[in-house]
Amino acid sequence: MSDLLLLGIETTCDETAAAVVRRREDGSGSILSNIVLSQFDEHAAYGGVVPEIAARAHVEVLDDVIARALRAAGVTLADLGGIAAAAGPGLIGGVIVGLTTAKALALAARKPLVAVNHLEAHALTARLTDSVPFPYLLLLVSGGHTQLVCVTGVGRYEKLGGTIDDAIGEAFDKTAKMLGLPYPGGPAVERAALGGDPNRFALPRPLLGRPEPNFSLSGLKTAVRLEALRIAPLSDHDVEDLCAGFQAAIVDVVTDRVRYGLRAMRERGHAPSALVLAGGVGANQAVRRALHKVAADGGTRLAVPPPELCTDNGAMIAWAGAERLALGRRDGLDFSPRARWPLAEVDAAQGAAATAPAA
Ligand code: KG4
Ligand code: ZN
Repeated sequence: MSDLLLLGIETTCDETAAAVVRRREDGSGSILSNIVLSQFDEHAAYGGVVPEIAARAHVEVLDDVIARALRAAGVTLADLGGIAAAAGPGLIGGVIVGLTTAKALALAARKPLVAVNHLEAHALTARLTDSVPFPYLLLLVSGGHTQLVCVTGVGRYEKLGGTIDDAIGEAFDKTAKMLGLPYPGGPAVERAALGGDPNRFALPRPLLGRPEPNFSLSGLKTAVRLEALRIAPLSDHDVEDLCAGFQAAIVDVVTDRVRYGLRAMRERGHAPSALVLAGGVGANQAVRRALHKVAADGGTRLAVPPPELCTDNGAMIAWAGAERLALGRRDGLDFSPRARWPLAEVDAAQGAAATAPAA
């Protein structure tokens, strides 16, 4: 098989994104274009993503974002080997917009369609940016998901642990909202934490030392809220200290849980080639720094895409599409968008025909 050029479309949340990626025969890849239009302004007034507003905003700009991605890559639809779109999980209105557009383009240009699981796209991005071989331990930390996953191949995901309540990104977002910081909360909390004292408040580190690598964030979030209420009204300085304390607790929790995750992976007989950090929270510098050390202590290395490829983007969708297409996996135009679609069910959803080996 020769080089594959894939268009990728991402519309599962509040980013409208399209990109063109090349996958070479040797399995390496490069990004030819990557256009991301964030809807921050549309949602800022509400302190979070409003699904109906998101879906309408995708409809308004997606055609233009795709045209820009193709233009910036210097390619036309005819040059593509396939068209990939995130088919879930996510806000269903947005998913429908992206997947339907991809189907129309695939039909018109007579190209294969690849319906990509958004989580799988996060999971495989480090193979595009860092050529990470299988197997590896994935820490997927986004607005909606917090999971430790043993990745042994494309479509082969074994969940080792996950959150029993909030996702880490969600905890960042809720903490920001509670402290009057702007949406999206993660970057705002990280910025505020820079000037704060992480030791001023005694905040809990839930599940520390438990052998199953699960997470729990709701107790930490509540503790921050109680401290904020206790010392209200909050000065800028108080907010900085609360953010620093919250982020330090997150770093301690993530550090400990990943140590146990590495252990759990080895117990299953897999030696990780890397610890891969993926999802929006992977953009957090304190988390990245801490995990470098955890990986080294665990006899492996940390592979983490640059921050703009940790948050939602089209390149990760295009790349996951290319990895699947290279294995002969493509999808029918009747593929249904999915609001809920766990990583472990990626191939089950695609049906027998779609998972048949390449001809
Ligand atoms: O992967 P992503 O872009 O979208 C989802 O699939 O959810 O992740 C978004 C999440 C949000 O909760 C956001 O607050 C968080 O990632 N995030 C961060 C940072 N940048 C984004 N959390 C902590 N620190 C950051 N710098
Ligand atoms: Zn995401």
